[in-house]
Amino acid sequence: METKIKETIKLIRTLVLAIVVLFGITLLSFISLKNDIQGVKVESVQTNSLPKVPVESALVAKGRELFDLNCKSCHAASDEIVIGPGLKGISQRRDLDWITKWVQNSGNVIKSGDKYAIEVFNKYNKIQMTNFEKLSDEDVKAIVAYVEVQ
Ligand code: HEC
Repeated sequence: METKIKETIKLIRTLVLAIVVLFGITLLSFISLKNDIQGVKVESVQTNSLPKVPVESALVAKGRELFDLNCKSCHAASDEIVIGPGLKGISQRRDLDWITKWVQNSGNVIKSGDKYAIEVFNKYNKIQMTNFEKLSDEDVKAIVAYVEVQ
């Protein structure tokens, strides 16, 4: 009788031990599987997704260069005033044709009696903007494109 009880206890012990071991193995394989999944995820992010920084178009890149070189000393691409007004939203205030004429020779636009030009000229203490006759229509378009995406 006693040996039977002892045997039963032994059996139960073995079973409990087996359950613990099995549980441990399951847990471990689950953890490593999780790591695998995460690894795959990270990899797919690196290989399949687009770069986070948008690629600048050639026009905008050219505009940035021209802006930095010719306009930055007096203008910000934001709405901040430097010497002249911030150029943010300029393509909503004026059309490209006007902006081109203005940049190439703002004095001529003022002289033509353009109301807006006279107003902005007076507002900024009649500081005459540099003439940029060397800038082509395409150059001005690039500058406006650059300002637009800021
Ligand atoms: C020496 C300073 C100076 C430089 C350099 C300059 N600007 Fe200006 N800009 C001004 C001032 C000042 C005004 C305000 C009008 C005025 O006084 O003639 C102005 C006005 C403007 C306006 C009208 C803004 C509005 O809100 O209506 C545009 C557009 C403009 N500039 C574009 C440019 C671009 C593009 C360049 C570079 C190619 C440039 N400016 C370089 C001083 C400058």
